[in-house]
Amino acid sequence: MSDTEHTGQRARPGLHGRRKGKPLRQHQTELIEQELPRLAALGEQGLVDWRTAFDFTPRALRMEIGFGGGEHLIAQAAANRDVAYIGCEPFINGVAKLLARMEELGLNNMRVHPGDAVDVLRALPDACVEQIDLLYPDPWPKRRQRKRRFVSEETMADLARVLIPGGRWRFATDIDDYAGWTLARVLRSPDFTWTAQTSSDWVQPWPGFVQTRYEAKAVLAGRRPVYLTFIRK
Ligand SMILES: C[S@@+](CC[C@H](N)C(=O)[O-])C[C@H]1O[C@@H](n2cnc3c(N)ncnc32)[C@H](O)[C@@H]1O
Repeated sequence: MSDTEHTGQRARPGLHGRRKGKPLRQHQTELIEQELPRLAALGEQGLVDWRTAFDFTPRALRMEIGFGGGEHLIAQAAANRDVAYIGCEPFINGVAKLLARMEELGLNNMRVHPGDAVDVLRALPDACVEQIDLLYPDPWPKRRQRKRRFVSEETMADLARVLIPGGRWRFATDIDDYAGWTLARVLRSPDFTWTAQTSSDWVQPWPGFVQTRYEAKAVLAGRRPVYLTFIRK
């Protein structure tokens, strides 16, 4: 049984969270108006070709879905300047923050999608992404809201299609029920294996992991994150 009603096209969770917060500062507005069109992952011509979009030849493509304020994505892109990144985030204040940090650090290895990550996943060719990070997706804890969760059999099929064999899907959450929800789907998936051997494999952050704003709040509130790595078969 599929997680969402079948409509002919593969179903998608859609966007349910907020897209705007406090008013943008002047420079943030300028970045959104002037820089975002140049750095957009999806333009009028469709998805940019990551192999030719940059002024260098990337050795791999990675993606972060729902980057929030971009703390983790910026750190990854700064540490791996020979890798191309696509960041997806519909919350425009987060996008503005990311653009400002990219400018400060002179990062030239990123494209941004200020919207639903499913748009990018469905525009990507097969087997081209080395790593996809989904860090603290909105938990939607109430039973009737769970169908809004990003992880579903449909989005997992999208992730599986775009990842290269051996590619990584990394998932972090502080919500036990969401960890169980995702593991249950991975364990019955023909496309992914879960790599954990011992508990330290999922309670320790990944090497080089930079804490996100959401994680910092979760830890302060006494919740324990888990870090799950799934390998594309
Ligand atoms: C709980 S927040 C976590 C943000 C960030 N990853 C962190 O750890 O601080 C979840 C984020 O996912 C974004 N989001 C929700 N649905 C999305 C979708 N379909 N595509 C991309 N991002 C999405 C939200 O706007 C929000 O910023």
